[in-house]
Amino acid sequence: MKVLVIGSGGREHAMVWKLIKSTRVKKVFAAPGNGGISELAECLPLGVEKVVDLADFAASSPIDLTVVGPEVPLVHGMVDYFRQRKLPIFGPTKAASRLEGSKIFAKQLMQRYNVPTARFQIFQDLSEALNQLKNSPMPVVVKADGLAGGKGAIVAESREEAIQAVTGMLREHLLGEAGNQVIIEECLQGEEVSVLALVDGSNFILLEPSQDHKRALDGDQGPNTGGMGAYSPVPMASPDLLEEIRSKIFEPIVVGMANEGCPFQGILYAGLMLTAQGPKVLEFNVRFGDPEAQAILPRLKTDFFELLLASMEGRLGEVQLTWDPRACACLVLASQGYPGKYDLGREITGVKEAAELPDTLIFHAGTKREGSRLLTTGGRVLNVAALGETLEEALKKVYQAADRIQFEGRQFRRDIGARALRHAASR
Ligand code: AMP
Ligand code: GLY
Repeated sequence: MKVLVIGSGGREHAMVWKLIKSTRVKKVFAAPGNGGISELAECLPLGVEKVVDLADFAASSPIDLTVVGPEVPLVHGMVDYFRQRKLPIFGPTKAASRLEGSKIFAKQLMQRYNVPTARFQIFQDLSEALNQLKNSPMPVVVKADGLAGGKGAIVAESREEAIQAVTGMLREHLLGEAGNQVIIEECLQGEEVSVLALVDGSNFILLEPSQDHKRALDGDQGPNTGGMGAYSPVPMASPDLLEEIRSKIFEPIVVGMANEGCPFQGILYAGLMLTAQGPKVLEFNVRFGDPEAQAILPRLKTDFFELLLASMEGRLGEVQLTWDPRACACLVLASQGYPGKYDLGREITGVKEAAELPDTLIFHAGTKREGSRLLTTGGRVLNVAALGETLEEALKKVYQAADRIQFEGRQFRRDIGARALRHAASR
């Protein structure tokens, strides 16, 4: 079987790495891939927006399965286009991808199907939004309806910040069309956890939970980023809690999407807040998380390719997952300045030496090869992942490996997993 993976991040590197382990996969292509993916797969010089060219390639190769990593091509309908051309592809349709592409769609669906989420109101009109803010207790969360590359949700501690956020979206159009409608919602308190499921339209199967670290700096300080590190499993997510998440969140959403005429097939990611009143949904994503995938896939023992096929063929009801009981931690090495402005083209050394350490995996994100050199090409540059008998051991290996990797301006968080370790210590 020949597989094509669309995307160029650490998530896609982890997917390629997992897919080539399948006995049924003979060759993997990636578009556009990165400096690490190119060691495992043949990279095509096609960006994720080149839908027609990608489909032409899949048709002529021919590719047996295309897997889409990032949300933008899904929300724009890549899956619909491939299906029209009878090309096998894993992921949700454009209509189903509204769960991530429109926060208003997701909120209204949750409301209709009684899925626990923060209380919210929708605004198109600036004066109405400002009026609402006069009476809202702070903090509040202001969200743009559409995709905004991680910049669409602002947790406003003060009224001034909230006013600035809605004005930026509704009057100054700082987020373009994505911000033509906004949600103002209650700020939830608690521990965040990411729970992902494989969904085949009607059946679904939960993957092991993980926790992301969204802020740039230690102690959850600094701006939001795409994610600075992750680990799995999450001690705060007990089996009882996961059962509640399954029955009160995933079950009604999967049923609801089918009822609404847009059955969901692909990976459904629920970003959750574990509040004192139980788990509540912060957001849905319609794809693997990045860096969550890099902490989850190394623990998955079941053949990933077979799983994707089972999901596409509506056979998830027959599937049982097997997991490595060890913990996996993943640390993101980023360019100085990320998520703001950063320099590109810095030489990276020590990746091979880091990968030689036991149970350690290096997943590339913003890298490219130029001759024998490896250079930075993005904000998030590398993911250092490791498995350990305990989370503490996995983290120790991760930081040992990270110390072997150097590039000018390298920045990373020193406190990945700290909350889980504190939780474990308090029991
Ligand atoms: P979103 O894009 O909706 O996932 O939001 C990005 C981040 O903002 C989340 O991971 C949370 O850290 C935070 N956030 C979003 N909604 C809320 C909320 N209602 N209460 C508290 N924090 C939130
Ligand atoms: N790590 C968060 C995301 O993938 O959206």
